[in-house]
Amino acid sequence: MSTMTEHSGIKPTALITGAAQGIGLAISKRLIQDGHPVIMTDRSPTIHAAGQALRALGPQVITAELDVSDTEQVLAIAELGGDLWPNLGVLVNNAGISPKHQGQKKKVVDMDLAEWVRVIDTNLTGTFRVTQVCLPVLIANRWGRIINITSQAARTRTPVPGAHYSASKAGITGLSRILAGELANDGITVNCVAPGRIESEMTQAVASHTNADLAKHIPIGRLGLPQEVAAAVAFFASLDSNYITGTTLDINGGNFML
Ligand SMILES: NC(=O)c1ccc[n+]([C@@H]2O[C@H](COP(=O)([O-])OP(=O)(O)OC[C@H]3O[C@@H](n4cnc5c(N)ncnc54)[C@H](O)[C@@H]3O)[C@@H](O)[C@H]2O)c1
Repeated sequence: MSTMTEHSGIKPTALITGAAQGIGLAISKRLIQDGHPVIMTDRSPTIHAAGQALRALGPQVITAELDVSDTEQVLAIAELGGDLWPNLGVLVNNAGISPKHQGQKKKVVDMDLAEWVRVIDTNLTGTFRVTQVCLPVLIANRWGRIINITSQAARTRTPVPGAHYSASKAGITGLSRILAGELANDGITVNCVAPGRIESEMTQAVASHTNADLAKHIPIGRLGLPQEVAAAVAFFASLDSNYITGTTLDINGGNFML
């Protein structure tokens, strides 16, 4: 068993997918600042420069190219983490896509099956793939925090993303509930963070007036910031969330209330 326990004072290693920019980058920064050794992964080679920029904040930062839709790459994930891998304790499934065409979603009636499959394979099956490969080490350590980035689109009807995106994020919510039940006796919690509209490249891929129009309907009156999502992830990664599993935390400025 690893030396990492909740009493040892050693911060567990955190692995983040889709960490090269936006929300994943902000999560990486926050977990590094909180003292975690961090394995930052992304399908984009820009992950290396992104990680390099954060190394001043904490000495133990590894970067690796990882496409969550590539089963072979994911099966080799343990090799990416080197010395940090045996102390893996926090997994943040953040990588995701939300295709647009000239700034618009495609309605179901017009959607290519290939696009549907690509979104489900990246967002939902990618979360399953990475989680399954990480589980043996979390179970061996008898400690783990799995944090899945879903979306307001998993919780209610939203106008901007397509049906594939909403279905994939709702699917992650269902997967998370089942995992939370299966893993509770292994000392592993599984929770979702559901952002509303957050400033990132993903939300720039729409007509220029769209975000300003949407912000008018958000009670807090603006889009969220990636670091505001990262703060919620940091809470779920910490000991303060010990008795919380199988839930979703909405980060949406009051845009959707349940
Ligand atoms: N920005 C928002 O308003 C918002 C709202 C709700 C949920 N989310 C979710 O938050 C997560 C991060 O979104 P973001 O806004 O930072 O998006 P982004 O597009 O700015 O960044 C996504 C990152 O994921 C990476 N990625 C994409 N496909 C990948 C794959 N197959 N394998 C590995 N990496 C891959 C990209 O290279 C990129 O670095 C996504 O899951 C997204 O669905 C975002």
